[in-house]
Amino acid sequence: MKEINPFSLTYNPEYFCDREAQTTQLTNNLANGLNTLLHSPRRLGKTALILNTFNRLEQSKTCETFYIDLFAASKMQDLIGILADKVLKKYHSQNLMQGIKSLLKGINASLTFSPDGTPSLSLNLNEKQFDSTLAQLFDFLESRKNPVVIAFDEFQEVAGYPEKAEAILRTHIQQLSNVKFIFSGSTNHLLQEMFLGAKRPFYQSAEVMVLDKIDRNIYSEFITSTFLKNGKKINPEAVEYILGFTDVYTYYTQLICNQCFYNTDLNLEIDQTRQIINNYLESRKIDYLNILNMLSENQKKMVIAIAKDRLVEKPSAMEFLHRNNLPSASSSLQALKTLNDKEIIHKTITGYKVYDVFFERFLEKYF
Ligand SMILES: Nc1ncnc2c1ncn2[C@@H]1O[C@H](COP(=O)(O)OP(=O)(O)O)[C@@H](O)[C@H]1O
Ligand SMILES: [Mg+2]
Repeated sequence: MKEINPFSLTYNPEYFCDREAQTTQLTNNLANGLNTLLHSPRRLGKTALILNTFNRLEQSKTCETFYIDLFAASKMQDLIGILADKVLKKYHSQNLMQGIKSLLKGINASLTFSPDGTPSLSLNLNEKQFDSTLAQLFDFLESRKNPVVIAFDEFQEVAGYPEKAEAILRTHIQQLSNVKFIFSGSTNHLLQEMFLGAKRPFYQSAEVMVLDKIDRNIYSEFITSTFLKNGKKINPEAVEYILGFTDVYTYYTQLICNQCFYNTDLNLEIDQTRQIINNYLESRKIDYLNILNMLSENQKKMVIAIAKDRLVEKPSAMEFLHRNNLPSASSSLQALKTLNDKEIIHKTITGYKVYDVFFERFLEKYF
């Protein structure tokens, strides 16, 4: 029999760790009629938090929710297309053609079918029809009896659209009272400028919520009890070792726990945990060497130096440059800037860090 791995890498309400306060806060913002900007570094759990909040809201039947992933939407037509597709399928699943006629009057819309027969909406809009299409969709949602929530995930993508997307969206969003929004994305300059730039349409339009790591004790308890619930045991030392290795970052913790659970028959001890983690790092070696090979010598030295210190407050400090055999402060800062732009390292409130925790461990181990 194939056993189910409870440490999944997609949202599973049955094995979701904590985020109680954040789920409540998001829900309260909605209840109070406030839009929310949710941001954090990548892979800490924003998408999962939104899905968890939506799952609860849908279960309580108090709200109707739409999760819109903008990762692959590179222009306004894509965004409107995804939204229209979701609205259509939620309210007109019995008769999509009829739905298109009533929701998208005067719009060039058709259904396409994937090889497995799944229908999806395809829109052909010219720029003048953005407003009228959005107006029809939002008018419909505005008239629902229950409140409606739309989450735009990876919302920073909108900043790069060729159209005046922010202004168009903002104009519609401002007029809605039954429809509330969650804007989510990774902490970076694009998102910050959208909401903090005084001249931008979304300036101060949402309550800001920054997602942090899950509390270490709560995560530890979650790992132990999840093993137990599924007929296995994990030694407390092994749990501590995992959380130390992953620095309690959600994605990395889930991934390591997934591997540890899979490789355990009944009882996981610390030695085997070390072994599983080493094997995993080893399996990523070629990818990481490839990343390194794409960097200049100065960038390589810089990222290795940051990995070894784990957190570097002042990367231009003489002591740091000397100890790591780095070039002049100006060349080093240039390398740092490139690494930051490539999102290989990132700046936190306390200093610079390597973005990918496993890459950091790899650099620590091999250099
Ligand atoms: N509270 C949680 N409990 C268990 N797994 C989680 C939790 N939050 C996130 N995850 C998992 O961690 C990974 C990263 O989360 P994700 O929501 O995709 O992060 P983000 O959207 O911030 O990049 C995903 O595999 C997700 O399923
Ligand atoms: Mg996400």
